[in-house]
Amino acid sequence: MLEKMGEFFDSRLDIYDEHQLTCIEAAREFYPFTAGLLPRGAGCRVLDLGCGTGLELESYFTLNPDARVTGIDLAPGMLAALGEKFPGHDLELVCGSYFDVPFGEGLFDAAVSVESLHHFTQAEKVPLYAKLQRALRPGGYFVLTDYFAATPDVERRRREELARLKRKQGLAEGTFYHYDTPLTVDHEAEALEAAGFARVEKLRAWGDTATLRAWA
Ligand SMILES: C[S@@+](CC[C@H](N)C(=O)[O-])C[C@H]1O[C@@H](n2cnc3c(N)ncnc32)[C@H](O)[C@@H]1O
Repeated sequence: MLEKMGEFFDSRLDIYDEHQLTCIEAAREFYPFTAGLLPRGAGCRVLDLGCGTGLELESYFTLNPDARVTGIDLAPGMLAALGEKFPGHDLELVCGSYFDVPFGEGLFDAAVSVESLHHFTQAEKVPLYAKLQRALRPGGYFVLTDYFAATPDVERRRREELARLKRKQGLAEGTFYHYDTPLTVDHEAEALEAAGFARVEKLRAWGDTATLRAWA
């Protein structure tokens, strides 16, 4: 049974952090690795897409307690839990879809997203990434740590299965449901480049999770 994206995460809030850290291969490595790539300067600005309860921010605020972070997420419960974790930090939380929320232009030193963007197609991501690229300062970059499809065939089959489930449940287009439809790393890099990012690097992989860095 497909569930709406925000409701899916909020209804699992009590087990969320433990599940992420124990059930995803190498999660205890990739959260600190991702955070370690973010800028260290005092007061630098970072945008987090799909911040959830902020597992990536736990490591980041340890490395850079003075960072100014804007986190966007669809799930109000996840955001409330995140807000309680980091009192005293410069953390702005925006409840909404990163497809709809304006990011501004030239504002952020870096952006990050962990385990959130594997639900969307290339066609949905290109305009999102173009908006993100414009939100970064010159020399800025986007760090994406996410779940990727091992092959184009896996990518296609997951997408077909989502379409089948939506038809079966009579669900309309235009609402996000929780079902993993990861792109391959190559297709993700294509979307980032099509959106205007100058260069995309694949930095590390752990099973189906990889970290990419895209330079604005
Ligand atoms: C698996 S959690 C990852 C949270 C956090 N980054 C982490 O790694 O622990 C995915 C998060 O992405 C959020 N999300 C999914 N689609 C979104 C969208 N279109 N806009 C904003 N948030 C979204 C979900 O609500 C959820 O909190």
